[in-house]
Amino acid sequence: MNETLATFSQQWQPQLNSFIEQQVNATVTQETLRQSMCYSLMAGGKRLRPLLYLATVATFAEIQPSDLQAAASIELIHTYSLIHDDLPAMDNDDYRRGQLTNHKQFGEAMAILAGDGLLTLAFQWVGELASKSAPPLPTSAVAQMVTILAQAAGPSGMVAGQVIDIEATGKKLPNLAMIQELDALKTGALLTAPLQMAAVRLQLAAQPTQALIQFGRHFGVAFQIYDDLLDYAGTEAELGKEVHKDVAAGKNTYPEFLGIAGAKAKLHAEISAAQTSLNDLAADVEPQLLLSFLSYFDKDSGQ
Ligand code: IPE
Ligand code: IPE
Ligand code: MG
Ligand code: MG
Ligand code: MG
Repeated sequence: MNETLATFSQQWQPQLNSFIEQQVNATVTQETLRQSMCYSLMAGGKRLRPLLYLATVATFAEIQPSDLQAAASIELIHTYSLIHDDLPAMDNDDYRRGQLTNHKQFGEAMAILAGDGLLTLAFQWVGELASKSAPPLPTSAVAQMVTILAQAAGPSGMVAGQVIDIEATGKKLPNLAMIQELDALKTGALLTAPLQMAAVRLQLAAQPTQALIQFGRHFGVAFQIYDDLLDYAGTEAELGKEVHKDVAAGKNTYPEFLGIAGAKAKLHAEISAAQTSLNDLAADVEPQLLLSFLSYFDKDSGQ
């Protein structure tokens, strides 16, 4: 991991974690639901999506307390997507974030409900940015942030990608463009949303906003290719989740379609495209912190 990303994570991950833990504990009064939501939230995810939001804000302005709430809302959605992704009816996985999956610990009904709770609470937290947060954001900005998050998470984004994934499992998607679409939707959308939401929060002009969106899209596709490569090359101890399952399950991945070397070449092409995207950010803006997120792909990738 590059120094800049490492330092930024060390600074903000603990603050994100304590914000999430305190706020979920304060809000969710139903005890089993609270435990089930916190079990998955506090199990040690990398927090890349909220960190991307905070890093985008930090690139242009100073991070405010309200930014923690906006960033954390994206992590709630991501964690819900993992709980549901692991369910027996989906990928049927037993380990996640270094511990038993939510349904293994709490049962399927509670895992579904914890996911429902996380998904809904995320929108509560974004909505509250207009009133309860410090400082409150303009309602027009909050409305745009809600829309961006819903598009990224829902039937125009992650959920649509998961549907393609599930429907194509055990069958072969016919071409690379469809795998690209699958990855862009199921994973890319929730990695682009933080940059887009931060652009709204910062009231950025069209050009830097587009540059950030392009960066997010390339980062997001690279992220799923890397995740698929790790399923071949990684270990359960490193990743905290089951590995070597995609081939057996008949998943459609870049390594399956192009081979390991071809998938690595595509990963590098996406990393380069992400780098190039930030050339258009703005003359007086230093993109180093955002670029340092690409160092995530340096480790354990067997490159
Ligand atoms: C895993 O996401 C699921 C994918 C979208 C590939 P992460 O690798 O970001 O998982 P956590 O949050 O660190 O557990
Ligand atoms: C996950 O893709 C995408 C989500 C929307 C959660 P995977 O199914 O490959 O993620 P892992 O490998 O289980 O983390
Ligand atoms: Mg899956
Ligand atoms: Mg999975
Ligand atoms: Mg995977």
